[in-house]
Amino acid sequence: MSRQELKWLIDGYVAGEIPDYQVSALLMAVCFAGCTAKETADLTMIMAESGDMLDLSPIPGIKVDKHSTGGVADTTTLIVAPMVAALGLPVVKMSGRGLGHSGGTLDKLESIPGVDTSVSTERFLELARSNGIAVVGQSAELVPADKLIYALRDVTGTVESIPLIASSVMSKKIAAGCDAIVLDVKCGSGAFMSNEADARELAEAMVEIGSAVGRDTVAVISDMNQPLGRAIGNALEVEEAVDALSGRISPDDPLMRVSMVLATKMVQLGWPGSSQEAVTAKLQSAIWNGSALMKLKTLIDSLGGDGEGVINGSALPKAKKIIPIKARETGIIYKMDCEALGKAALLLGAGRATKADVIDPAVGIMMKCRIGDFPGKGDVLAEMHVNDETNAEAAEELIHGAIDLSRNAPEIPTLIYGVVEKDIRG
Ligand code: URA
Ligand code: CA
Repeated sequence: MSRQELKWLIDGYVAGEIPDYQVSALLMAVCFAGCTAKETADLTMIMAESGDMLDLSPIPGIKVDKHSTGGVADTTTLIVAPMVAALGLPVVKMSGRGLGHSGGTLDKLESIPGVDTSVSTERFLELARSNGIAVVGQSAELVPADKLIYALRDVTGTVESIPLIASSVMSKKIAAGCDAIVLDVKCGSGAFMSNEADARELAEAMVEIGSAVGRDTVAVISDMNQPLGRAIGNALEVEEAVDALSGRISPDDPLMRVSMVLATKMVQLGWPGSSQEAVTAKLQSAIWNGSALMKLKTLIDSLGGDGEGVINGSALPKAKKIIPIKARETGIIYKMDCEALGKAALLLGAGRATKADVIDPAVGIMMKCRIGDFPGKGDVLAEMHVNDETNAEAAEELIHGAIDLSRNAPEIPTLIYGVVEKDIRG
């Protein structure tokens, strides 16, 4: 389709002049036949331009955004954003809420008493200018076309199409005004893309869009065949981010390794020509000298929370009861169903099954094992942090079912499958 044809259709749909059934037919055609790179880029820009386009030019420097396609125990934004800001790069980010079994940064931030992420665009820019870090909710006027099309995809079975996912994600990043984008494309049992080939195709489609519309885009393809960190649940994940930024988690830990790669890519986009080794060393220093942790404190304070209290743990809500999940037999952890673990946390109240559900910020799961561990019978595999016990038994069964104990040696999943980048000036 030509750009004009697509624009006529999308604009007409947003204006209410073109009915759902026509757009449904288009979505289904895209699902079966795909799009050309040009059609995908055109669709992305038309969607981005369907509402407000944020102008971040009053904030000096290259603004680099970060986005994850959605994972479990994926606390990276709360770790990466303060690390990058600590180096002096402006982090100006609009984040989303949890979707199904995968968590969202806004819900994590709002697990902190007092925090309100719904700030005006003026306040958002003011925070970014004065603090060098602002992470807030997406404004209602951003990409109305995506809101409508996403809802239609949901009910017409057309969510899982690479050009549709790629344009949905990239339209929101572009409308949010950043100059460059680092994408964390998750791959595995807890992700949209369950295998490496599909994840790579999605990564390439998004990098291609970025390059076509003049935004340097880098995509890191990372594993989601087991939870990335240990915490699944909002306040638990904030606590894990504090641990990470306090240097209490080893740099070799998977959560730290993925966070470091993402942060390094962000800084390299902001400082063209900088070397990976030099940037990684600076970011590591920002953890050791406490400046990254101070940026997290600033972020929390600026949104109305008690940053100091979050850092010392006193301000975070705690669940009433901790229930250990013990191995029913001795074995080697062969594989995990990461989506099922996310769903178990959702059953405990850590997420929303429907839009109307209310999140319990304190509850969730702390993982105590990874693929390749060999627990004995009775060893603790995970802990459930529970307030309302209604679904605790069902959640426990889901967790047992999600952790596959075997007598065979497992294949340990690769943590980072690759990086897709393309120099838009080269
Ligand atoms: N996330 C989005 O924002 N859009 C999609 O289509 C899928 C994941
Ligand atoms: Ca470039």
